[in-house]
Amino acid sequence: MSKKPLRDLGYGVYAVTSVIGSRHVGCIANSAMQITSKPATIALSMNHDNFTNGAISESGIFAISILPETVDSGIIGTFGFQSSRDIDKFENIAFSEKEGVRVLNAAVSFLVCRVVDKMETSTHTVFLGEVIDSDELSEGEPMSYAYYHNVVKGKSPKNAPTYIEEEKTSDKWVCSICGYVYNGETPFEELSDSYTCPVCSVPKKLFEKR
Ligand SMILES: Cc1cc2nc3c(=O)[nH]c(=O)nc-3n(C[C@H](O)[C@H](O)[C@H](O)COP(=O)(O)O)c2cc1C
Repeated sequence: MSKKPLRDLGYGVYAVTSVIGSRHVGCIANSAMQITSKPATIALSMNHDNFTNGAISESGIFAISILPETVDSGIIGTFGFQSSRDIDKFENIAFSEKEGVRVLNAAVSFLVCRVVDKMETSTHTVFLGEVIDSDELSEGEPMSYAYYHNVVKGKSPKNAPTYIEEEKTSDKWVCSICGYVYNGETPFEELSDSYTCPVCSVPKKLFEKR
């Protein structure tokens, strides 16, 4: 079976947020798509291990912040490679509240969805959400999943439904948080200590030789 057709499918890069009790949570997801127009309904695939999954199941509501190509890499690092189990992801993030759920100011636009159905797979829950609010926030090009991979050189963690195991590399400096592989002209050892991962913004010391 070829993996290329799976890579050829198109997606965006979104911050999916929800709420559990008084805690606001969220993560990065690419697997959201519109499946009907009347009523406008969105399907979203969320890993069982993601803290966000439990919040969406319990509150029955989620928002999708559609991120621009220029989005700060720290947002992808925080929302896509860390868990709300361990941190408050909204510390240092500008947001507004819509229907009780937080939407990132960094987004070009957003949708808020009320869960109307869900389906379980062995690893992910597919939520169906009816759109109850949506608006534009700023101009800018929404980031596609292809742009994230080809231009930002971003990686997807194991919980992303589109995760594909990487071929093993040797003698590469790899970000231990997001998997970004350094391929700059300056030897990694010679980079200044202020160098940070261009994908998730963590410091140089969190890179490891693999
Ligand atoms: C580019 C990208 C796309 C992702 N897509 C998904 C997705 O569609 N579904 C999913 O369950 N996780 C996806 N993830 C992984 C979650 O964002 C990640 O596991 C996150 O740390 C979960 O945080 P939480 O435990 O606070 O929910 C993606 C991550 C990245 C960086």
